[in-house]
Amino acid sequence: MSKPTYRIAPSLLSADFARLGEEVRNVIAAGADWLHFDVMDNHYVPNLTVGPLVCQAIRPHTQAKIDVHLMVEPVDALVPMFAKAGADVITFHPEASRHVDRTLQLIRDQGCMAGLVFNPATPLNWLDHVMDKLDIVMLMSVNPGFGGQSFIPSTLDKLRAVRERFDAYEAQTGKRILLEVDGGVKTDNIAEIARAGADTFVAGSAVFGASKDSDPHRYDSVIAALRSELEKV
Ligand code: DX5
Ligand code: ZN
Repeated sequence: MSKPTYRIAPSLLSADFARLGEEVRNVIAAGADWLHFDVMDNHYVPNLTVGPLVCQAIRPHTQAKIDVHLMVEPVDALVPMFAKAGADVITFHPEASRHVDRTLQLIRDQGCMAGLVFNPATPLNWLDHVMDKLDIVMLMSVNPGFGGQSFIPSTLDKLRAVRERFDAYEAQTGKRILLEVDGGVKTDNIAEIARAGADTFVAGSAVFGASKDSDPHRYDSVIAALRSELEKV
């Protein structure tokens, strides 16, 4: 397989929520590709964040893709709401939906890229019967709910297993499914994560935490550092 295009998706979870529009503009101007938007419901995960209204509020601030990560249960009712609010990518946790195939189709019918998210302990066999409906798969490298946790090393083997499966699928069908990783991604591990097969990298605290001491709200150097690590792969 040829060398993949890498995407860096800063997670707004670690941004300054009091100045979200500016954070969005700054992080994209600094070279980020996508915006990762974490939706938590205090039911599927023990934390509560933001909904479609906030997605709609940031939409005019950027042309970059908004990557909505639904950590909610149930899933379906929120899909059209986020699509209308300007989401480009919508991912959800399969065990939070009664009808996974239907939810994937619902996301696609709304014109968004559709994907499944796997927690560290979620088995990969959820992929078995829905490969044709997937645009992206995201592996959690922390348990969902909070930013700033450490990368769980067993994610690397899981990434390699999915990479192998996706490469075989691409060889067979010509269709490429993106492979995203979420949680604990930093400059010191992003290259290793890319080598294991990821092409899309969520980074929350690594990006939004980095600027605080020196130059507040400037993210160029950390995004350049993440990219230069990816160059080495
Ligand atoms: C965790 C969220 C992540 C989180 C990543 O449930 O899904 O997107 O913001 O944050 P870091 O990069 O700090 O681990
Ligand atoms: Zn996330």
